[in-house]
Amino acid sequence: MDNMEDVQYYKEQLKRQEKLASLGLLSAGIAHEVQNPLNFVINFSKTSQKIISEINEIIEGNCDKIPDEDREDIVASSEDLRSNLEKILSHAERAVNIVRDILQMSRGKENEMLPTDICRIVKEYVWLSYHAMRANLKNFNISIKEQYAEGAPIVKVIPQDLSRAVLNLMNNACYAVWSRQQTAPSDYQPEISVNVTFSDTHFTIIIADNGTGMSDEVKQKLYDNFFTTKPAGQGTGLGMSITREIVETKHKGRLSFDSTEGKGTCFTIEIPITK
Ligand SMILES: Nc1ncnc2c1ncn2[C@@H]1O[C@H](COP(=O)(O)OP(=O)(O)OP(=O)(O)O)[C@@H](O)[C@H]1O
Ligand SMILES: [Mg+2]
Repeated sequence: MDNMEDVQYYKEQLKRQEKLASLGLLSAGIAHEVQNPLNFVINFSKTSQKIISEINEIIEGNCDKIPDEDREDIVASSEDLRSNLEKILSHAERAVNIVRDILQMSRGKENEMLPTDICRIVKEYVWLSYHAMRANLKNFNISIKEQYAEGAPIVKVIPQDLSRAVLNLMNNACYAVWSRQQTAPSDYQPEISVNVTFSDTHFTIIIADNGTGMSDEVKQKLYDNFFTTKPAGQGTGLGMSITREIVETKHKGRLSFDSTEGKGTCFTIEIPITK
């Protein structure tokens, strides 16, 4: 690259960052608007569940008046309805959590440490990354193994930053397994495992993939700004340097990795607990 191309390249990166910032504002606005209809979904599915219970009671009380076959059909259908409503409710509640996070993030002052359920945001961003990747990459089909500490304490972190770190690591892991899959024999099973544990003093987030792994050269340049091995236009090469800053500078933690070319990579975020 000559100098002019460099300047052009950085200008484009900047434009992209600005776009991302306005996207943040926009999504906060959308999140706010989405809250109301979601409340309707939740309230109406709860009321409908109650109505079904009432109908079931009426049917039970009138057993003798309904032919056996019809009764079985009615019972089966009402069970289907009940379980559908349960699914609607649980997915709507998931959406509420996401909306709340987006709002909290856009409200939180920059660098503000807020009490956070680490397992919940890790889970959310793991799946956010997964779905974004699935939408963008052809034949993206991987399995994700998750293990979250039970009864984990609420700890103080900068939620929008920590979730960005998880998103960056997850995006890289998804890309690594996907790229390996493009040339691997058909028995290759792409897999990412996510693990969150707590000790008295620290919590640890591990994201491990059995993707392409990294060569020595990539390992050395990994944290350099704008270093990417992705095709032009697909990676900014900022993910890892941002992630390291978030973990080490902003949270006084440690980001480490272990990687073998052709086998896979494991990233570990370790952050001291602040309550
Ligand atoms: N899990 C991983 N497996 C294999 N290579 C990885 C992994 N994580 C990072 N890398 C390598 O490190 C490079 C830099 O990663 P980084 O996240 O900084 O940038 P990027 O993913 O290329 O672009 P973006 O800024 O969009 O994240 C990647 O291009 C890739 O070569
Ligand atoms: Mg990346």
